[in-house]
Amino acid sequence: MELVQDTYRYPEEYVKGVPLVKFFAEALGPLQSFQPQPDDLLISTYPKSGTTWVSQILDMIYQGGDLEKCHRAPIFIRVPFLEFKVPGLPSGFETLKETPAPRLLKTHLPLALLPQSLLDQKIKVVYVARNAKDVAVSYYHFHCMAKVHPDPGTWDSFLEKFMAGKVSYGSWYQHVHEWWELSRTHPVLYLFYEDIKENPKREIWKILEFVGRSLPEEIVDHIAQHTSFEEMKKNPMTNYTTVPEDIMDHDVSPFMRRGKAGDWKTTFTVAQNERFDADYAEKTAGWDLS
Ligand code: A3P
Repeated sequence: MELVQDTYRYPEEYVKGVPLVKFFAEALGPLQSFQPQPDDLLISTYPKSGTTWVSQILDMIYQGGDLEKCHRAPIFIRVPFLEFKVPGLPSGFETLKETPAPRLLKTHLPLALLPQSLLDQKIKVVYVARNAKDVAVSYYHFHCMAKVHPDPGTWDSFLEKFMAGKVSYGSWYQHVHEWWELSRTHPVLYLFYEDIKENPKREIWKILEFVGRSLPEEIVDHIAQHTSFEEMKKNPMTNYTTVPEDIMDHDVSPFMRRGKAGDWKTTFTVAQNERFDADYAEKTAGWDLS
C-alpha cells in the first residue's frame, strides 16, 4: 500500500520555549530586522480569535468602506502576516515590502518573539481575544485543514496539548494576559470576539476612534454588513479559498467554519469541560484585569 505523505506537516519547532510551525520559526531571523513605519497598525491575536474578521473591518475602514477596493487581493496579501512563510508562497516579509502605507500588519507572535522595533516605536496595536474554549475547538479544526500544522490527533489529545500550551504559538493564557499587560504602557486597543459578535457597530466605532478616523454612520452600517460571517464566508478575498488545496483543505473543514460565540458546547464533553474549568481557574488566578 502506498503511503500518502503530507508535504507540509512537520512537528512544531521551539523558539525561546514557544512551539511554532517549522517554516514560521525559520522566518523569525529575517523578521528581527523589520523596521516599522510610524503609521503601521498591528493586528495581534492568538490564532482563531477573529484575526481575519478584524483585518477585514480595518481594511474596509482604511478604504473608506469601498468593498471593491477590498477585493483588490486576498486578506493575507492586503494585511501581511509578519511571520508567515510556506515553501512556494510569498512570505509575509516579502508581501510587506510590496504593501503601500498606511499598512495593516498581522501577527500571532507572543511578545518574546515580536520584533522589538514594534514595541520601541510604540506602533499601535489592535488586539482581539476570544473565549478559550471556542479558540481550542476552532484551532483543532484548523489543524485538520491547514496542513502546515502537525496532525492534531484526537480532539481529546489536542485539548490536552492546548491546555498545556504545547500547540503552535504556545499558551493561550500567556498570550492574552501579556498583551493585556502591555496595554498599560503601549497603545493597544484590546477587543473581544464576543463583543464584536454582540454589537459590531459599537466595536467599529471604537476602532475608528483608536485609529483616528471618522466615517459617516451609513458607511459604518455598510462595513458591519459586509464583515458579517455570512458575507465573509462567501467572499473569496476573505475565506482563504484562494490558498492552494494542499496547504488548506476546505473539504476537511472550511476556514470560515461556524463563526459563533459559545459553539464549544457542541464539542466539549462534560468531563472535558470540568477539567478545562479547573485548569482555567488555576491558570488565571491572580490576573488583574482592571
Ligand atoms: P470558527 O472556527 O469558530 O468558526 P482567525 O481569523 O483568527 O483565524 O479566526 C478564525 C475564526 O473566526 C473562525 O472561527 C472563523 O469562522 C471566525 N470568523 C471569521 N470571520 C468571522 C466573522 N465575520 N464573524 C464571526 N466569526 C468569524
